[in-house]
Amino acid sequence: MKKTKTIVLISGKGSNLLNIINNVNSGFINMEILMVISNNFKANGLDIAKNHDIPTLTIENNDEFEKKLSGVIDDNAIDLVVLAGFMKILPENITKKYDGMILNIHPSLLPKHKGLNTHRKVIEGRDKFHGASVHYVTSKLDDGPVIIQARYEVDNYDEDLIKKKIHDIEHQIFPIAIKWFVDGNIYKYKNKFTFNNEVLECPIEHILNH
Ligand code: GAR
Repeated sequence: MKKTKTIVLISGKGSNLLNIINNVNSGFINMEILMVISNNFKANGLDIAKNHDIPTLTIENNDEFEKKLSGVIDDNAIDLVVLAGFMKILPENITKKYDGMILNIHPSLLPKHKGLNTHRKVIEGRDKFHGASVHYVTSKLDDGPVIIQARYEVDNYDEDLIKKKIHDIEHQIFPIAIKWFVDGNIYKYKNKFTFNNEVLECPIEHILNH
């Protein structure tokens, strides 16, 4: 079966990237990561990519960004763009042109806590539940249809512990959503998505296995 041609965009540590690579290597996700792109030349995720022999590219946050990114996507006939801790808002021309083929992981139970500092917002609000979401990217920030979410009851408001827990959740749900995309189970449909040809009105809730 043809492998889905994918690029992964990162800005930092790259733990989601590593987890995705491991899921590709284990055969769980049938795709090929053609390139890892960062807007931060110091991102640790670039080293992870290099260690796995995946070509890397750093694109600066300037006017050339949009042209360079769409150049990579078009020249390589990319099927899927994965945002794995990518901290730059994509230009509208990109989100419109590649509508339905960009997935993002976000560290909150969307639509709650869009944007940055989600853990801090949970701590300040003493939220009872926290979690992570995978969604299709649209031109409105963190607003596209949410595919999958997982939640936990917050029992400790220490930011480091929350961050660790959320990473753990992300590492469970992101590969599942990517696999669904790659296997053709999900498609973006207007501001919703279909799962096995049925329009879903709300995200799929993933029950955590620990
Ligand atoms: C993840 O928690 C991801 O949800 C978040 O950045 C972290 C990256 O971690 N993304 C955003 O906040 C996007 N708005 P990683 O580099 O270890 O994968």
